[in-house]
Amino acid sequence: MTELRIYASQEGSVDAGHDSAVAPEPEPLFSTSNAAQISAELKTRGIKFQRWPSKPELEHEARQEQILEAYASLIASVKEHEHYQTVDVMRVGGDQPNTSLRQTFLQEHQHAEDEVRFFVEGCGLFSLHINDEVLQVTCEANDWIAIPAGTRHWFDMGTNPNYCVIRFFKNSGGWVASYTDDPIANFYPGLP
Ligand SMILES: [Fe+2]
Repeated sequence: MTELRIYASQEGSVDAGHDSAVAPEPEPLFSTSNAAQISAELKTRGIKFQRWPSKPELEHEARQEQILEAYASLIASVKEHEHYQTVDVMRVGGDQPNTSLRQTFLQEHQHAEDEVRFFVEGCGLFSLHINDEVLQVTCEANDWIAIPAGTRHWFDMGTNPNYCVIRFFKNSGGWVASYTDDPIANFYPGLP
């Protein structure tokens, strides 16, 4: 289920003298599964979020060309309004080994390129570290999210990754993870 949870950043409690090794899992200050509320809360923090209409005619595990065709008008609209140059379809799961791929994005990092994803199938958990908050957004099928370049974040695809996304790029060469070396991700829940 699509959900937003907002937490205070753990840095505050670490500074207050707690031993970070035994810090309890934080409680969210706010949570919602209402798409309009999620969009509004994220918008005030510079993150764009939309729910797109489902495409029941699109079969499960459709090919890239079928996916891009089904969403052609929405893709064209986003590219025009948000100035993205290219899109591709990435599928994780099935026969591909992916334990190491999960690990790649589990620690806080940022990119010189926006991270823009539309979930065609499956789900994933984005954690955004913005000022003194951590915003966890569980995205599922039909969710579109745009995380601006330079936003501190991490991503969990779960213990058994299985998802398909459309990715939008201004310059795909900029989408390289630059790690912050902040262990903050260890203090927050992952995707079950
Ligand atoms: Fe990322």
